[in-house]
Amino acid sequence: MRKQIAAANWKMNLTYKQAETLLDEILAAGLEPSPNQQVLFSVPFPYLIMANSEVAEETSYFIAAQNCSDKKSGAYTGEVSAEMLQSIGIKYCVIGHSERRDYFNESNQMLAEKVNLCLKHEIIPVFCCGEALSVREQETQNSFVQTQLEESLFHLSPEQIQNIIIAYEPIWAIGTGRTASTQQAQEMHHHLRSVLAGRYGQEVADNISILYGGSVKGANAIELFSSPDVDGGLVGGASLQATEFQQIIKALKK
Ligand code: PGA
Repeated sequence: MRKQIAAANWKMNLTYKQAETLLDEILAAGLEPSPNQQVLFSVPFPYLIMANSEVAEETSYFIAAQNCSDKKSGAYTGEVSAEMLQSIGIKYCVIGHSERRDYFNESNQMLAEKVNLCLKHEIIPVFCCGEALSVREQETQNSFVQTQLEESLFHLSPEQIQNIIIAYEPIWAIGTGRTASTQQAQEMHHHLRSVLAGRYGQEVADNISILYGGSVKGANAIELFSSPDVDGGLVGGASLQATEFQQIIKALKK
């Protein structure tokens, strides 16, 4: 059975102390996710080791990096490799967030390299996809997002793709307060699952968690997550507040 996942994406926010306090607050609430649920915190690089030790005793909480390099190692000043993440015990990494695609020119091909390096180092990629407003206005979002999957993921084997988490994040809904409607989210998630089923078979597709991202909050999480193909959320702004994020964790399907 696929996991239901609440994934925080802190982006470039919080000082070290603030990050520690936020994690402590969320963990202290003592929410006990059920066996099919997981909580991820995608934190800035300098906080990975601290955050990983905070969740070390927990069974359902994990730490993710927000990015890794598409290169193995070498003279790439400022980059962080998948191997480095593995060496400090990190098991998840967000790959291809729209902010990385837009501001750092990450292409589908480059993201395929990152996915390969993550898998090689036993890191589960949280692979982000999603269309800009202009694409949605032309009603070509289905084929746009399908291409993102095909070019970055479809070289993987059925065993490998089942180790990927997909996050559908329409760019027009990120940080804008404008959420995709429950119907829009379900339609796209269903489309993505059909595309995965077309390539890998229904059983494999049914094992892959597909998260929704874009202005998820405590107040809209229950409705968004209630859709059959929406397996939780990747949450930016609302993940920076303990009570909001706790509500989002509680909204996951059991
Ligand atoms: P948001 O960000 O929840 O602030 O819209 C989501 C994301 O970018 O992952």
